[in-house]
Amino acid sequence: MINTRLKSLIPSATLRINEYSNHLEEQGKTIYKLGFGQSPFPVPQSMVNALKERAHEKAYLPVRGLYQLREIVAKYYQRTQRLSVKAENILISPGSKMYLFIAQLAHEGDLLLPAPSWVSYAPQAKIIGKKCHWLNTTEANSWQLMPDDLEDFCKKNPQPKMLLLNYPNNPTGVTYTAAQLKVLAQVARKYQIIILSDEIYGELHHDNQHVSIAQYYPEGTIIYSGLSKWAGAGGWRVGTTLVPHELKDLRNTMATIASETFTTVSSPIQYGSIAAFEDTTDLDNYRHAARKILKHVGNFTYQSLQNMNITTPRPEGGFYSFINFEAHRKNLAQKNIVDSVSLSNQLLEETGIALLPSIDFGRQAEELLFRMAFVDFDGEKALNAVLNTYSAKPLDDNFLKNYTPKIVIAMEKLAEWLN
Ligand SMILES: Cc1ncc(COP(=O)(O)O)c(C=O)c1O
Repeated sequence: MINTRLKSLIPSATLRINEYSNHLEEQGKTIYKLGFGQSPFPVPQSMVNALKERAHEKAYLPVRGLYQLREIVAKYYQRTQRLSVKAENILISPGSKMYLFIAQLAHEGDLLLPAPSWVSYAPQAKIIGKKCHWLNTTEANSWQLMPDDLEDFCKKNPQPKMLLLNYPNNPTGVTYTAAQLKVLAQVARKYQIIILSDEIYGELHHDNQHVSIAQYYPEGTIIYSGLSKWAGAGGWRVGTTLVPHELKDLRNTMATIASETFTTVSSPIQYGSIAAFEDTTDLDNYRHAARKILKHVGNFTYQSLQNMNITTPRPEGGFYSFINFEAHRKNLAQKNIVDSVSLSNQLLEETGIALLPSIDFGRQAEELLFRMAFVDFDGEKALNAVLNTYSAKPLDDNFLKNYTPKIVIAMEKLAEWLN
């Protein structure tokens, strides 16, 4: 017998699209993987070397994480966000996903999610049996949560709450300015909302201007990050969680749940991860190059989409755009395309372009909204080109043609298909 609460968990549309595109690829079709959100860049060499040196480590490490790793993560937050945090504030887990789940489990309150939000938060709430409230956002406001909407909700719903705020955002590619975060922080403080601040794309802010809301609401913000995105190390499974001392009871409960479930992250991986937080020129150059590439490719796809009358905010961080085919609704209806799932299926069949329907991100099925990822290219080659050939000059069209050819072709194919 399956737990009735879990019976309604269905495989996501994302998974089905991925399976279908794998199937088409096996049949020899070229697939433009604009649905998949995996970092294209190689793991920085200093991390790989550190991991090799520690392959022999075999002991269980503390549940909350290796002390030296927690310490260097705390220093990283002191340096980059001017937060007064110590090693004690930091928890290490197998991916940030784990403590996103555990924090929801450990806290009594409801979960507030801006729509759209990343695919896993709502299913996590469902698994736990936590009530989840979607807060609407609009295209006019670049799909961002407006403080007034948060305040309206809080006035009507006095129960304890956690707000999931993810920026730079998956799926929209947009982030909040410091001024916007300040206002959201005021509302959160007024209503004592705990903010789960998912900043996993923070290091991939295209202009290196990432600011954490913890600067304005340190006592109520839990910051999530890790090595999966900026360091291309999703498979290492390393997540970092910063819990302020004001929430130490919650932190203790979270660590207890960890001790009874995943125990700790693998020892060689934790030792290897220390290298990711060192303040070195090589890592700065690596991150600078990755941002330069993502900004250039993001601007190119943004401009191409504008030319096709597909609306989208300009990406500001990470590697996604949230794109809207609404202007094409009438023409698409003639092909029997009336919702995001039918559009993504037909587009994939006819052009090989894979996009993710926004239904998995908390939007309505009939909206013609999609997440597009612009990472279907060889990140290692692109990174080396930027570190060598392009180190002192701006990226150009030749760079796109030589290093991100599938993205260029995908934009041409999409324009042809719409015509
Ligand atoms: C917004 C967001 N948060 C969290 C995660 C989870 O990352 P990990 O568990 O690898 O740290 C992802 C991964 O896709 C993500 O896109």
